[in-house]
Amino acid sequence: MSLIDDVEKVLISEAEIQERIANLAAEMNALYSDADRPMLICILKGAFMFLADLTRHLTFRHELDFMEISSYGRGTTSSGAVRILLDLATDVQGRHVIIVEDIVDTGNTLTYILRNFAARKPASIRVATLLSKPSRRQIEVPVDFVGFEVPDEFVIGYGLDFAEQYRNLPFIGVLKPEVYRQS
Ligand code: IMP
Repeated sequence: MSLIDDVEKVLISEAEIQERIANLAAEMNALYSDADRPMLICILKGAFMFLADLTRHLTFRHELDFMEISSYGRGTTSSGAVRILLDLATDVQGRHVIIVEDIVDTGNTLTYILRNFAARKPASIRVATLLSKPSRRQIEVPVDFVGFEVPDEFVIGYGLDFAEQYRNLPFIGVLKPEVYRQS
């Protein structure tokens, strides 16, 4: 069975994602045209594809850095414990920072990230997330750019995984229930 056979349905198509990212980038281009080399911080691993497409639409000079945060492991529910697996290579003090996330679900991870960044004293900080699941929020957390709001379903593709698989799919989809049951 190939990867695609595990997908129950496509929630957001490749074309819809690409169109939305071009619009988000246009908003950022307007906001940051005069800013001194903002830093886009890609939260690994889930945001790698979003970052790669977003950065290609940006017309202002900017720099990239990466941070890996622990998330769900092999399950589909949050462990609650958040920790840094890979830290930034750059000092962001005095810099304009844009956090690039894959999805804001309970809000725990982003809350942790924003607290952590506040201590690093950036000049400004905004958050861009491809997806948001507002119905699952446990903590209110500010998000400046949202690609799509999604219902309370576990989604995969376009960077998002289940048990480290499906990140390469070019769309956002939902897996067949038997895939979760098998693992
Ligand atoms: P939160 O801390 O509950 O907001 O979860 C944030 C992280 O959990 C995201 O950055 C994802 O890595 C992961 N996550 C949450 N929901 C999903 C989902 O539906 N599919 C895949 N990963 C998810």
